[in-house]
Amino acid sequence: MTVITGAEIFVDGELRKLDVAFDEKIRTIGRNLEGEERLDCSGKIVLPGVIDVHVHVRDFEQSYKEDWASLGRAALSGGVTTVFAMPNTQPPLDSVARVRDYRRRAQVSSINAYVYGAITRENLRSLDELAPHVDAFKLYLGETTGQLVISDKKLHREIFKIVTETEKVLAVHAQRGGDPDEVTRYEHDDICYVLDLAAAFDTKLHLVHVTTRRAVEAIVEAKKSKIDVSFETCPHYLFFTAQDREERGAWLKMNPPLATEEDREFLWWALGEGLIDIVATDHAPHTIEEKSVGYERAPAGVPGVEFLPPLLFDAVNAGRISLARLVEVCCRNPAKRFGLPKGEIAIGLDADLVVVDLDSKKTITREAVQSKCGWSPYEGMTLRGWPVMVVVRGKWYYPLTPGPSPS
Ligand code: DOR
Ligand code: ZN
Repeated sequence: MTVITGAEIFVDGELRKLDVAFDEKIRTIGRNLEGEERLDCSGKIVLPGVIDVHVHVRDFEQSYKEDWASLGRAALSGGVTTVFAMPNTQPPLDSVARVRDYRRRAQVSSINAYVYGAITRENLRSLDELAPHVDAFKLYLGETTGQLVISDKKLHREIFKIVTETEKVLAVHAQRGGDPDEVTRYEHDDICYVLDLAAAFDTKLHLVHVTTRRAVEAIVEAKKSKIDVSFETCPHYLFFTAQDREERGAWLKMNPPLATEEDREFLWWALGEGLIDIVATDHAPHTIEEKSVGYERAPAGVPGVEFLPPLLFDAVNAGRISLARLVEVCCRNPAKRFGLPKGEIAIGLDADLVVVDLDSKKTITREAVQSKCGWSPYEGMTLRGWPVMVVVRGKWYYPLTPGPSPS
Protein backbone atom coordinates (compact mmCIF):
# COMPACT_ATOMS: atom_id res chain seq x y z
CA MET A 1 0.00 0.00 0.00
CA THR A 2 1.19 3.52 -0.78
CA VAL A 3 0.23 6.49 1.40
CA ILE A 4 0.23 10.15 0.45
CA THR A 5 0.90 12.16 3.58
CA GLY A 6 1.11 15.81 4.53
CA ALA A 7 -1.14 17.12 1.76
CA GLU A 8 -4.64 18.52 1.60
CA ILE A 9 -6.89 15.99 -0.12
CA PHE A 10 -10.00 16.95 -2.09
CA VAL A 11 -12.75 14.81 -0.51
CA ASP A 12 -16.49 15.37 -0.32
CA GLY A 13 -16.24 18.68 -2.12
CA GLU A 14 -13.48 20.29 -0.07
CA LEU A 15 -9.78 20.19 0.80
CA ARG A 16 -9.03 18.31 4.01
CA LYS A 17 -5.77 17.58 5.76
CA LEU A 18 -5.92 13.80 5.49
CA ASP A 19 -3.78 10.93 4.24
CA VAL A 20 -4.88 8.71 1.39
CA ALA A 21 -3.79 5.08 1.09
CA PHE A 22 -4.07 3.14 -2.13
CA ASP A 23 -2.98 0.23 -4.24
CA GLU A 24 -4.80 0.12 -7.57
CA LYS A 25 -7.85 1.41 -5.75
CA ILE A 26 -8.24 4.03 -3.07
CA ARG A 27 -8.38 1.98 0.14
CA THR A 28 -8.41 4.35 3.10
CA ILE A 29 -8.76 8.06 3.73
CA GLY A 30 -7.90 9.25 7.23
CA ARG A 31 -5.26 10.40 9.69
CA ASN A 32 -1.85 8.84 10.31
CA LEU A 33 -2.32 6.00 7.85
CA GLU A 34 0.20 3.17 7.63
CA GLY A 35 1.73 1.88 4.41
CA GLU A 36 4.98 0.36 3.14
CA GLU A 37 5.55 3.32 0.88
CA ARG A 38 5.01 6.90 2.01
CA LEU A 39 4.96 9.88 -0.32
CA ASP A 40 5.40 13.15 1.54
CA CYS A 41 3.34 15.76 -0.31
CA SER A 42 3.44 18.50 2.30
CA GLY A 43 2.29 21.84 1.04
CA LYS A 44 0.50 20.29 -1.97
CA ILE A 45 -3.10 19.49 -2.74
CA VAL A 46 -4.35 16.18 -4.10
CA LEU A 47 -7.19 16.00 -6.62
CA PRO A 48 -8.74 13.17 -8.63
CA GLY A 49 -6.83 12.62 -11.91
CA VAL A 50 -8.20 14.70 -14.76
CA ILE A 51 -10.35 12.91 -17.36
CA ASP A 52 -10.18 14.37 -20.86
CA VAL A 53 -13.08 12.96 -22.86
CA HIS A 54 -11.94 14.45 -26.18
CA VAL A 55 -8.48 13.83 -27.62
CA HIS A 56 -7.21 12.90 -31.07
CA VAL A 57 -4.31 10.50 -30.63
CA ARG A 58 -3.48 9.99 -34.37
CA ASP A 59 -1.81 6.61 -33.94
CA PHE A 60 -1.91 4.48 -37.16
CA GLU A 61 -0.95 6.42 -40.28
CA GLN A 62 -0.73 9.87 -38.71
CA SER A 63 1.50 8.88 -35.83
CA TYR A 64 4.01 11.51 -36.99
CA LYS A 65 1.58 14.03 -35.41
CA GLU A 66 1.08 12.04 -32.18
CA ASP A 67 1.03 8.45 -31.01
CA TRP A 68 -0.01 6.76 -27.81
CA ALA A 69 3.44 7.08 -26.25
CA SER A 70 3.72 10.83 -26.83
CA LEU A 71 0.08 11.46 -25.99
CA GLY A 72 0.54 9.53 -22.75
CA ARG A 73 3.56 11.61 -21.75
CA ALA A 74 1.78 14.85 -22.60
CA ALA A 75 -1.31 13.85 -20.64
CA LEU A 76 0.64 12.75 -17.54
CA SER A 77 2.81 15.84 -17.52
CA GLY A 78 -0.33 17.96 -17.26
CA GLY A 79 -2.18 15.87 -14.70
CA VAL A 80 -4.50 14.07 -17.11
CA THR A 81 -4.77 10.38 -16.15
CA THR A 82 -7.60 9.30 -18.45
CA VAL A 83 -8.42 10.10 -22.06
CA PHE A 84 -11.12 9.21 -24.55
CA ALA A 85 -9.68 8.87 -28.05
CA MET A 86 -11.65 10.08 -31.06
CA PRO A 87 -12.15 7.71 -33.99
CA ASN A 88 -11.17 9.97 -36.92
CA THR A 89 -7.81 8.27 -37.19
CA GLN A 90 -6.41 7.17 -40.51
CA PRO A 91 -7.82 4.59 -41.04
CA PRO A 92 -10.79 5.27 -38.71
CA LEU A 93 -11.88 3.25 -35.68
CA ASP A 94 -14.84 1.75 -37.50
CA SER A 95 -14.35 -2.00 -36.96
CA VAL A 96 -13.70 -4.42 -34.13
CA ALA A 97 -10.24 -5.25 -35.51
CA ARG A 98 -9.21 -1.58 -35.66
CA VAL A 99 -10.48 -0.80 -32.20
CA ARG A 100 -8.67 -3.85 -30.82
CA ASP A 101 -5.46 -2.75 -32.53
CA TYR A 102 -5.88 0.77 -31.14
CA ARG A 103 -6.39 -0.47 -27.61
CA ARG A 104 -3.31 -2.65 -27.93
CA ARG A 105 -1.28 0.38 -29.05
CA ALA A 106 -2.65 2.42 -26.15
CA GLN A 107 -0.95 0.05 -23.72
CA VAL A 108 2.42 1.73 -24.37
CA SER A 109 1.05 4.79 -22.59
CA SER A 110 0.64 4.75 -18.84
CA ILE A 111 -2.75 6.45 -18.84
CA ASN A 112 -6.27 5.04 -18.85
CA ALA A 113 -7.38 4.88 -22.48
CA TYR A 114 -10.98 4.79 -23.64
CA VAL A 115 -12.12 4.75 -27.24
CA TYR A 116 -14.98 6.15 -29.35
CA GLY A 117 -16.22 4.03 -32.23
CA ALA A 118 -16.70 5.70 -35.61
CA ILE A 119 -20.05 5.62 -37.36
CA THR A 120 -19.95 5.31 -41.14
CA ARG A 121 -22.44 4.44 -43.88
CA GLU A 122 -20.73 1.08 -44.15
CA ASN A 123 -20.68 0.01 -40.50
CA LEU A 124 -24.00 1.56 -39.50
CA ARG A 125 -25.93 -1.68 -39.56
CA SER A 126 -23.32 -3.60 -37.63
CA LEU A 127 -22.83 -1.15 -34.77
CA ASP A 128 -24.21 -3.73 -32.36
CA GLU A 129 -21.12 -5.83 -33.12
CA LEU A 130 -18.79 -2.88 -32.54
CA ALA A 131 -20.60 -1.68 -29.41
CA PRO A 132 -19.07 -4.12 -26.88
CA HIS A 133 -15.60 -3.05 -28.03
CA VAL A 134 -15.98 0.72 -27.69
CA ASP A 135 -16.75 3.04 -24.78
CA ALA A 136 -19.02 5.40 -26.72
CA PHE A 137 -19.80 6.34 -30.31
CA LYS A 138 -18.96 9.50 -32.24
CA LEU A 139 -20.97 11.00 -35.07
CA TYR A 140 -19.66 13.79 -37.29
CA LEU A 141 -22.25 16.08 -38.85
CA GLY A 142 -19.76 18.79 -39.85
CA GLU A 143 -16.72 18.63 -42.14
CA THR A 144 -13.39 18.32 -40.30
CA THR A 145 -10.18 16.23 -40.21
CA GLY A 146 -10.95 12.72 -41.54
CA GLN A 147 -13.77 11.53 -43.78
CA LEU A 148 -16.46 10.62 -41.33
CA VAL A 149 -19.12 13.23 -42.07
CA ILE A 150 -22.65 11.99 -42.59
CA SER A 151 -25.07 14.62 -43.86
CA ASP A 152 -28.08 12.53 -44.90
CA LYS A 153 -30.92 13.39 -42.50
CA LYS A 154 -32.64 10.04 -42.92
CA LEU A 155 -29.43 8.34 -41.90
CA HIS A 156 -29.19 10.57 -38.83
CA ARG A 157 -32.49 9.18 -37.58
CA GLU A 158 -31.37 5.64 -38.22
CA ILE A 159 -28.08 6.28 -36.42
CA PHE A 160 -29.78 7.72 -33.35
CA LYS A 161 -32.11 4.73 -33.24
CA ILE A 162 -29.33 2.16 -33.60
CA VAL A 163 -26.91 3.80 -31.14
CA THR A 164 -29.66 4.22 -28.56
CA GLU A 165 -30.25 0.46 -28.72
CA THR A 166 -26.57 -0.13 -27.83
CA GLU A 167 -27.07 1.99 -24.67
CA LYS A 168 -23.78 3.81 -25.36
CA VAL A 169 -23.30 7.55 -25.17
CA LEU A 170 -23.47 9.15 -28.60
CA ALA A 171 -21.03 12.04 -28.91
CA VAL A 172 -21.93 14.36 -31.77
CA HIS A 173 -19.93 16.97 -33.62
CA ALA A 174 -23.02 19.00 -34.42
CA GLN A 175 -21.50 22.17 -35.85
CA ARG A 176 -21.43 22.54 -39.64
CA GLY A 177 -18.18 23.28 -41.48
CA GLY A 178 -17.42 26.28 -43.70
CA ASP A 179 -16.97 29.99 -43.18
CA PRO A 180 -16.01 30.52 -39.49
CA ASP A 181 -18.46 33.32 -38.77
CA GLU A 182 -21.28 31.31 -40.28
CA VAL A 183 -20.42 28.22 -38.27
CA THR A 184 -20.56 30.29 -35.09
CA ARG A 185 -23.84 31.93 -36.12
CA TYR A 186 -25.51 28.59 -36.86
CA GLU A 187 -24.15 26.57 -33.94
CA HIS A 188 -27.38 27.09 -32.04
CA ASP A 189 -29.52 25.79 -34.92
CA ASP A 190 -27.25 22.82 -35.55
CA ILE A 191 -27.32 21.85 -31.90
CA CYS A 192 -31.09 22.19 -31.68
CA TYR A 193 -31.39 19.83 -34.65
CA VAL A 194 -29.45 17.19 -32.72
CA LEU A 195 -31.30 17.83 -29.46
CA ASP A 196 -34.55 17.09 -31.30
CA LEU A 197 -33.15 13.78 -32.51
CA ALA A 198 -32.05 12.87 -28.98
CA ALA A 199 -35.53 13.71 -27.71
CA ALA A 200 -37.18 11.61 -30.40
CA PHE A 201 -35.05 8.50 -29.74
CA ASP A 202 -34.25 8.96 -26.04
CA THR A 203 -30.53 8.90 -26.80
CA LYS A 204 -27.71 9.49 -24.30
CA LEU A 205 -26.31 12.48 -26.16
CA HIS A 206 -22.99 14.21 -25.58
CA LEU A 207 -22.39 17.42 -27.55
CA VAL A 208 -18.73 18.08 -28.18
CA HIS A 209 -16.91 21.42 -28.32
CA VAL A 210 -19.76 23.87 -27.73
CA THR A 211 -18.67 27.46 -28.26
CA THR A 212 -21.57 29.91 -28.07
CA ARG A 213 -23.91 31.35 -25.49
CA ARG A 214 -27.03 30.59 -27.51
CA ALA A 215 -26.08 26.94 -27.90
CA VAL A 216 -25.37 26.54 -24.18
CA GLU A 217 -28.70 28.16 -23.33
CA ALA A 218 -30.52 25.79 -25.70
CA ILE A 219 -28.87 22.77 -24.07
CA VAL A 220 -29.69 24.00 -20.58
CA GLU A 221 -33.33 24.38 -21.68
CA ALA A 222 -33.32 20.91 -23.22
CA LYS A 223 -32.19 19.39 -19.93
CA LYS A 224 -35.27 20.84 -18.27
CA SER A 225 -37.43 18.82 -20.66
CA LYS A 226 -35.59 15.69 -19.56
CA ILE A 227 -33.47 15.18 -22.66
CA ASP A 228 -30.51 13.03 -21.62
CA VAL A 229 -27.81 15.41 -22.81
CA SER A 230 -24.37 16.47 -21.63
CA PHE A 231 -21.93 18.81 -23.31
CA GLU A 232 -18.37 20.02 -23.19
CA THR A 233 -16.56 23.19 -24.00
CA CYS A 234 -12.80 23.38 -24.57
CA PRO A 235 -10.01 25.51 -23.10
CA HIS A 236 -9.39 27.36 -26.36
CA TYR A 237 -12.95 28.72 -26.30
CA LEU A 238 -12.31 29.96 -22.76
CA PHE A 239 -9.05 31.70 -23.62
CA PHE A 240 -9.32 32.91 -27.23
CA THR A 241 -11.82 34.55 -29.58
CA ALA A 242 -12.30 35.12 -33.32
CA GLN A 243 -10.30 38.30 -32.84
CA ASP A 244 -7.26 36.23 -31.79
CA ARG A 245 -7.74 34.08 -34.86
CA GLU A 246 -7.56 37.21 -37.02
CA GLU A 247 -4.16 37.90 -35.49
CA ARG A 248 -2.71 34.40 -35.27
CA GLY A 249 -4.27 32.73 -38.31
CA ALA A 250 -3.80 28.97 -38.73
CA TRP A 251 -2.39 28.55 -35.20
CA LEU A 252 -5.87 29.23 -33.94
CA LYS A 253 -7.74 27.43 -36.70
CA MET A 254 -10.03 24.69 -35.38
CA ASN A 255 -13.51 23.25 -35.84
CA PRO A 256 -15.76 24.70 -34.62
CA PRO A 257 -13.99 28.06 -34.86
CA LEU A 258 -13.38 30.52 -32.04
CA ALA A 259 -16.47 32.58 -31.22
CA THR A 260 -16.97 36.11 -29.90
CA GLU A 261 -15.72 37.82 -26.76
CA GLU A 262 -19.29 37.81 -25.47
CA ASP A 263 -19.45 34.05 -25.92
CA ARG A 264 -16.12 33.59 -24.20
CA GLU A 265 -17.19 35.65 -21.19
CA PHE A 266 -20.46 33.76 -21.06
CA LEU A 267 -18.63 30.40 -21.01
CA TRP A 268 -16.64 31.49 -17.93
CA TRP A 269 -19.80 32.66 -16.26
CA ALA A 270 -21.61 29.41 -17.12
CA LEU A 271 -18.64 27.43 -15.81
CA GLY A 272 -18.86 29.25 -12.51
CA GLU A 273 -22.61 28.66 -12.31
CA GLY A 274 -22.26 24.92 -12.87
CA LEU A 275 -24.04 25.03 -16.22
CA ILE A 276 -21.18 23.41 -18.13
CA ASP A 277 -20.92 19.65 -17.69
CA ILE A 278 -17.42 18.96 -18.91
CA VAL A 279 -14.29 20.78 -20.03
CA ALA A 280 -12.38 18.63 -22.54
CA THR A 281 -9.48 19.66 -24.72
CA ASP A 282 -10.29 18.47 -28.26
CA HIS A 283 -6.53 17.92 -28.32
CA ALA A 284 -6.01 17.89 -32.11
CA PRO A 285 -2.29 17.83 -32.86
CA HIS A 286 -0.95 18.88 -36.27
CA THR A 287 2.74 19.55 -36.83
CA ILE A 288 4.42 22.96 -36.99
CA GLU A 289 5.06 22.40 -40.72
CA GLU A 290 1.40 21.57 -41.35
CA LYS A 291 0.25 24.64 -39.46
CA SER A 292 2.74 26.93 -41.25
CA VAL A 293 1.10 26.96 -44.68
CA GLY A 294 -1.44 29.74 -44.17
CA TYR A 295 -4.99 29.75 -42.81
CA GLU A 296 -6.79 28.29 -45.82
CA ARG A 297 -4.51 25.33 -46.37
CA ALA A 298 -3.61 24.44 -42.79
CA PRO A 299 -5.50 21.61 -41.05
CA ALA A 300 -7.96 22.53 -38.28
CA GLY A 301 -7.13 21.72 -34.69
CA VAL A 302 -4.96 22.77 -31.75
CA PRO A 303 -3.22 20.63 -29.13
CA GLY A 304 -4.20 21.07 -25.48
CA VAL A 305 -4.17 17.94 -23.33
CA GLU A 306 -1.05 18.83 -21.32
CA PHE A 307 -2.16 22.32 -20.38
CA LEU A 308 -5.82 21.87 -19.48
CA PRO A 309 -5.20 21.31 -15.75
CA PRO A 310 -2.64 24.15 -15.30
CA LEU A 311 -4.85 26.56 -17.25
CA LEU A 312 -7.67 25.83 -14.84
CA PHE A 313 -5.47 25.74 -11.71
CA ASP A 314 -4.37 29.23 -12.69
CA ALA A 315 -8.03 30.23 -13.06
CA VAL A 316 -8.67 28.90 -9.55
CA ASN A 317 -5.77 30.96 -8.22
CA ALA A 318 -7.12 34.01 -10.03
CA GLY A 319 -10.53 33.49 -8.42
CA ARG A 320 -12.29 32.83 -11.74
CA ILE A 321 -13.61 29.40 -10.71
CA SER A 322 -13.64 27.37 -7.52
CA LEU A 323 -11.59 24.24 -7.04
CA ALA A 324 -14.83 22.33 -6.52
CA ARG A 325 -16.04 23.42 -9.94
CA LEU A 326 -12.78 22.40 -11.54
CA VAL A 327 -13.06 18.91 -10.07
CA GLU A 328 -16.66 18.71 -11.20
CA VAL A 329 -16.04 19.55 -14.87
CA CYS A 330 -12.67 17.77 -15.25
CA CYS A 331 -13.14 14.69 -13.06
CA ARG A 332 -16.53 13.96 -11.53
CA ASN A 333 -18.87 14.76 -14.38
CA PRO A 334 -16.83 13.03 -17.11
CA ALA A 335 -16.60 9.89 -14.93
CA LYS A 336 -20.30 9.93 -14.16
CA ARG A 337 -21.39 10.54 -17.73
CA PHE A 338 -19.26 7.76 -19.18
CA GLY A 339 -19.71 5.38 -16.24
CA LEU A 340 -16.11 5.16 -14.99
CA PRO A 341 -15.18 4.09 -11.42
CA LYS A 342 -13.10 7.27 -11.06
CA GLY A 343 -13.39 11.01 -10.83
CA GLU A 344 -13.45 11.39 -7.05
CA ILE A 345 -11.19 10.61 -4.13
CA ALA A 346 -13.37 8.03 -2.43
CA ILE A 347 -12.80 4.56 -1.05
CA GLY A 348 -13.09 1.82 -3.66
CA LEU A 349 -12.58 4.04 -6.69
CA ASP A 350 -9.55 3.77 -8.99
CA ALA A 351 -6.44 5.38 -7.53
CA ASP A 352 -6.07 8.08 -10.20
CA LEU A 353 -4.71 11.20 -8.54
CA VAL A 354 -2.92 14.42 -9.33
CA VAL A 355 -0.75 16.15 -6.76
CA VAL A 356 -0.69 19.88 -7.39
CA ASP A 357 1.55 22.68 -6.25
CA LEU A 358 -0.87 25.57 -6.43
CA ASP A 359 1.95 28.07 -5.87
CA SER A 360 4.36 26.95 -8.54
CA LYS A 361 4.60 29.42 -11.40
CA LYS A 362 5.84 28.53 -14.88
CA THR A 363 5.71 29.95 -18.37
CA ILE A 364 4.65 27.63 -21.18
CA THR A 365 7.45 27.32 -23.70
CA ARG A 366 7.67 25.42 -26.96
CA GLU A 367 10.66 23.45 -25.62
CA ALA A 368 8.58 22.09 -22.75
CA VAL A 369 5.79 20.75 -24.98
CA GLN A 370 5.47 16.97 -24.67
CA SER A 371 3.03 16.42 -27.52
CA LYS A 372 4.76 15.21 -30.69
CA CYS A 373 3.27 18.13 -32.62
CA GLY A 374 5.84 20.31 -30.83
CA TRP A 375 3.89 23.51 -30.21
CA SER A 376 1.06 24.93 -28.14
CA PRO A 377 -1.42 27.76 -28.63
CA TYR A 378 -0.71 28.67 -24.99
CA GLU A 379 3.02 29.34 -25.45
CA GLY A 380 4.09 32.44 -23.56
CA MET A 381 1.36 32.19 -20.93
CA THR A 382 2.56 32.23 -17.32
CA LEU A 383 0.42 30.05 -15.09
CA ARG A 384 0.34 29.51 -11.36
CA GLY A 385 -0.60 25.98 -10.28
CA TRP A 386 1.16 22.95 -11.79
CA PRO A 387 0.97 19.20 -11.21
CA VAL A 388 4.02 17.71 -9.52
CA MET A 389 3.00 14.06 -9.38
CA VAL A 390 0.33 11.84 -10.87
CA VAL A 391 -0.97 8.45 -9.84
CA VAL A 392 -2.61 6.15 -12.37
CA ARG A 393 -4.35 3.11 -10.90
CA GLY A 394 -1.89 3.13 -8.02
CA LYS A 395 1.30 3.64 -9.99
CA TRP A 396 2.89 6.99 -9.33
CA TYR A 397 4.90 9.22 -11.64
CA TYR A 398 7.18 11.92 -10.35
CA PRO A 399 7.80 13.96 -12.36
CA LEU A 400 7.43 11.56 -15.28
CA THR A 401 9.38 8.55 -14.13
CA PRO A 402 7.36 5.56 -12.97
CA GLY A 403 7.58 4.72 -9.30
CA PRO A 404 7.31 1.15 -8.01
CA SER A 405 4.10 -0.61 -8.99
CA PRO A 406 1.61 -1.45 -6.29
CA SER A 407 2.05 -5.08 -5.35
O1 DOR B 1 -10.33 21.36 -35.13
C1 DOR B 1 -10.61 20.18 -35.12
N1 DOR B 1 -9.68 19.24 -35.34
N2 DOR B 1 -11.88 19.82 -34.93
C2 DOR B 1 -12.29 18.54 -35.10
O2 DOR B 1 -13.44 18.27 -34.93
C3 DOR B 1 -11.33 17.50 -35.50
C4 DOR B 1 -9.98 17.87 -35.12
C5 DOR B 1 -8.91 17.02 -35.76
O3 DOR B 1 -9.05 15.79 -35.75
O4 DOR B 1 -7.92 17.56 -36.24
ZN1 ZN C 1 -12.24 16.70 -31.92
